[in-house]
Amino acid sequence: MIELDRHHSDCKGNLSIVENGETLPFDVKRVYYLYDVPGGESRGSHAHRDLEQLIIAASGSFKVTLNDSKCKRSFFLNRPYQGLYVKPGIWRDIDDFSSGAVCMVLASEVYQKEDYIREYGEFLEFRKEI
Ligand code: TYD
Repeated sequence: MIELDRHHSDCKGNLSIVENGETLPFDVKRVYYLYDVPGGESRGSHAHRDLEQLIIAASGSFKVTLNDSKCKRSFFLNRPYQGLYVKPGIWRDIDDFSSGAVCMVLASEVYQKEDYIREYGEFLEFRKEI
């Protein structure tokens, strides 16, 4: 988990910052976000070959489960000033979305279909090779 810089103002709310060269071990080339995810739905269920990501609960909450093929760990995200860094080659499942949850993802590369591993068996083979 990465704690983001926070500017707090008692009566005017908060502001958090992610800045290339400062906050993350990668530069951000793409931002996307999931929202209006119906209760009970899950997202993810894939790994990336090279992509690095920071996942932030910009609003609401959800659970991210990371799996390196040997070990699984779940993270409950519900703070807009915390981000979960996901390195390449990690299978992720995202579920338990609260109403109004916004899952914001900062990514190290533009969208590349070939970077996805969507079959779990292929993921296990990929892990054996690295
Ligand atoms: P996907 O990454 O599978 O979503 P999730 O893991 O959240 O379930 O993407 C869903 C669809 O959106 C898929 O058809 C690819 C498309 N997509 C893009 O075109 N560009 C992007 O940057 C992303 C993240 C997805």
